[in-house]
Amino acid sequence: MALSRRQFLKFSAAIGASFAWAGTGAARSSQSAWKERRDLYPEGVASGDPGPDSVILWTRRPFDQGARQVLTVEIAEDQDFRRIVAHASAAVSAAADWTCRVLVGGLKPARVYWYRFTDARGNGSRIGRTITAPRPNDPRPVHFAFVSCQSVNEGKLNAYRRMIFEDERATAENRLDFVLHLGDFIYEVVQYPDEVKTRYDRTIYEVARIPDGHKVGNFHIPLTVDGYRAVYKGYLHDPDLQDARARWPFVAMWDNHEFSWQGWQSIVKAGRFEQPGQSVKVAANQAWFEYLPSRVAAPSGSLERFDPPAVKNVPIDKFDANGLGTEPNNLIAINSLKAYRALRYGRHLDLIITDQHSYRGGDPFSDPSLDNIGAEFPGMFPEDAMKVLDGGRAFNGGNPPAEIHFNDAHVANPRRQAPPQAILGATQKEWFKNRLRRSTATWKVWGNSLGALDRRADPQNLPPGLTKESWPKDRYASLGGGDHGTAWLERTEIYDLVRDARITGFAIVSGDRHSFWAGYAAADLPPGKFEPVGLSFVGASLTSPGGMEATEHNLPKDAPLRALFLADRPNGGKPDWTFNMLLRHGVRSCLDYAKNFDLARARALSNPALAPHLEFVDLGGHGYATVRLTGDEMRTEFVCIPRPITRSETADGGPLRYRVAHSARLWRPGEAPRLKQQVLEGDPGLSI
Ligand SMILES: [Fe+2]
Repeated sequence: MALSRRQFLKFSAAIGASFAWAGTGAARSSQSAWKERRDLYPEGVASGDPGPDSVILWTRRPFDQGARQVLTVEIAEDQDFRRIVAHASAAVSAAADWTCRVLVGGLKPARVYWYRFTDARGNGSRIGRTITAPRPNDPRPVHFAFVSCQSVNEGKLNAYRRMIFEDERATAENRLDFVLHLGDFIYEVVQYPDEVKTRYDRTIYEVARIPDGHKVGNFHIPLTVDGYRAVYKGYLHDPDLQDARARWPFVAMWDNHEFSWQGWQSIVKAGRFEQPGQSVKVAANQAWFEYLPSRVAAPSGSLERFDPPAVKNVPIDKFDANGLGTEPNNLIAINSLKAYRALRYGRHLDLIITDQHSYRGGDPFSDPSLDNIGAEFPGMFPEDAMKVLDGGRAFNGGNPPAEIHFNDAHVANPRRQAPPQAILGATQKEWFKNRLRRSTATWKVWGNSLGALDRRADPQNLPPGLTKESWPKDRYASLGGGDHGTAWLERTEIYDLVRDARITGFAIVSGDRHSFWAGYAAADLPPGKFEPVGLSFVGASLTSPGGMEATEHNLPKDAPLRALFLADRPNGGKPDWTFNMLLRHGVRSCLDYAKNFDLARARALSNPALAPHLEFVDLGGHGYATVRLTGDEMRTEFVCIPRPITRSETADGGPLRYRVAHSARLWRPGEAPRLKQQVLEGDPGLSI
């Protein structure tokens, strides 16, 4: 529903926003003395969270003097600013690191607008472009990209360059409406190129020097708001990221690295370094608020500045029945910014975005007593035992087993008294379920920074003799952990709701895994009941190294099970990525492929019970994904680029590895969704 001017002013006042109102008056030409001075706006411009009549505009204009200065923002229907529909004052202040957010209302739905900022002397920002959402009853198709994991410390953002290149050449109806950023917008773990030159295939590039941080291994990590701000600024100096933010509105949700690599709630954890980090979580939230314009409520109640609450870093050692740390400073810190939210986009999209880190419990799979289980099988752990650990004291209707066993090894169940694994936390989960239940859009898309597809293998089908110990005959192996691919209890609750409420058009888009995955949202896999209730996708990293790159560097040449991950060519060429085949088809296909290099022959040995939930896996992919939604189809395209080690010098961002489309017709209640795959360009290798 569009807001009236009066309602809009009331709303703006309530969130304390600088605002501009387009209203109904005739457009006029610019009165400002704007002269572009990009050097004075070194992080560019951005827009966020478009609605049908409003959007948030952003820039940063640092000043040497004073605590607060005022800019003018202009919004026009044309790139030359002859038809300006709104202008307003926009405050920047040292308290917000000279960033500003302006809510512009009274705009027309589904329109492209242009905007720019000017200071009192006429020094202007670059010009940005943004797009409002269609009205909720508008049947036009929705088209967006989803991206994640953009380490500019270890790579270059050629994927954005490609996205811009294609969008500029697309017909108006094929252009992207917005970019959904599913997190790892920054990596708070920063390497300095004078200390470390390379990692895997990557050159380490300068990003930032972190004031008042901590060093663990090669990583410098921020502990204060100035530390996080330094990282955001370093990232935003990347020209491809800056151009992307100036071209499309972004809808953003953090993943782990906007706060802490292995952190959860307000606990900081990075490798060996672990400490209560209530003040660090607040600092991370503040910097995210300052740099990613979003419809979120800061403690100040204002869009202008954050106003961090005072917290102490004290141990968090009491947890409620849902795993939430009840220490008061922890609660203040994690509630200092609520970023989970939903956006309606025309008739066909409800985008429901959740936060996977602020409310989650500790890692249920990391107890050291489990280290020796299946140690000969790289990355593998018995799936049924993982489910025991996931369920904690709630497993098996509240009767968890006392022991976890594997062949002759028996380990006391370390999670017997622990709360079941929670990623969303109880409050957010209820909110999410209600949004799902109430959604009236054709497609209910869950923007979840973490993947939800199971990663498993069938080492029970290995021929004897490759390893000393055999994998037990009746058990699968999980290679997952940390996301909804192994949060069985929590995801089953959600998928059961989708099934029982007869919700159709349910789809998950996610990131974090640094790999492309397409498949189905299903609570269980064979020998359990395979009952898909929706679609599930993971988009590859824009830059960050993925599982294949790590495997190429880390897996010993003489590893007994090497063929399950890499097939070495007899001529010594680059090995083939059987790891993709392992997850999709199983060990028999991998072993045959590594011997014969015959894809058809290897696929004929596929284990149909292993992965009926998967249509595509590429652990070596980078790039972005696009989604097109209509009244009867969801079409997701994976646009894959080569490993982005150096910046492409060409306007198209460099070559593509492949482009693959995954389409599904809208299914009726009670029907199972079905994906159809089409390789449009290039060769996805062993991913299918
Ligand atoms: Fe990442």
